[in-house]
Amino acid sequence: MRLPFSRTLILLAVAVCAPATARAQSPTPAAQQAAHDEHGERPAPERIHRYDRQTVVLEDFVAEGYILDIGGGGEGIIGQLKPAQVVAIDLSARELTGAPPGPLKIVMDATDLKFLDETFGTATSFFTFMYMKPADQERAARELHRVLRPGGRLLVWDVLLPARFDPVKDIALFPLDITFMGRTVSTGYGTFFPEKAHDLPYYLGMLERAGFTVTAQKIEGRTFYVEARKARTPNAGTP
Ligand SMILES: C[S@@+](CC[C@H](N)C(=O)[O-])C[C@H]1O[C@@H](n2cnc3c(N)ncnc32)[C@H](O)[C@@H]1O
Repeated sequence: MRLPFSRTLILLAVAVCAPATARAQSPTPAAQQAAHDEHGERPAPERIHRYDRQTVVLEDFVAEGYILDIGGGGEGIIGQLKPAQVVAIDLSARELTGAPPGPLKIVMDATDLKFLDETFGTATSFFTFMYMKPADQERAARELHRVLRPGGRLLVWDVLLPARFDPVKDIALFPLDITFMGRTVSTGYGTFFPEKAHDLPYYLGMLERAGFTVTAQKIEGRTFYVEARKARTPNAGTP
């Protein structure tokens, strides 16, 4: 079982990925209300750098068969968009339990997927990479590449995270209004500032090292969307 650094992120994730109903009535940063840091304490408000609220428009996308959604607990947005197709995996049973019903929910680590090679045509990561330390992000990207079929697509939505710039503020909180299917979910995703920026080139490099070809990319405010494809020919593009 992996614990140290990831665990701190998970604890924070649990706090900010609380069920939508709870958060809808409490617009103050969830990280201030319930987050616990690596010492099991709630972080003091002065540790949190809160970015301006941003709207993320999630377009529907075409996918055949099952969709693997990593970190699919919390709001379970991809599961809400494609309930009949999503297999939502998450490290946290609590996050999966709190997510809306519909998808198949399985407690699983994205860095150690239990699916056979070439199982899925589509995989998604909706604000999940931001919760992983860099080595785990690399592992998860390689695992996603492994379980996708040749020609399969990985869709990633995440935040552009600058390197830590303040000695006191070690937590970044991104309040988001996520608009999809004619409705809006107001939420906030928080994580620790990294030592080096997790910007778009950082993520593109990670995906390419895992064997993907990036086919689309878009920056919107402090968030980005990337579409990456596994080569159609087996073994082509595999590192
Ligand atoms: C921002 S939260 C949930 C975002 C979610 N996709 C949504 O729609 O609200 C990120 C999630 O990633 C999960 N997570 C972090 N590291 C993970 C890993 N290695 N494997 C699976 N899930 C992970 C956390 O438990 C957390 O539920």
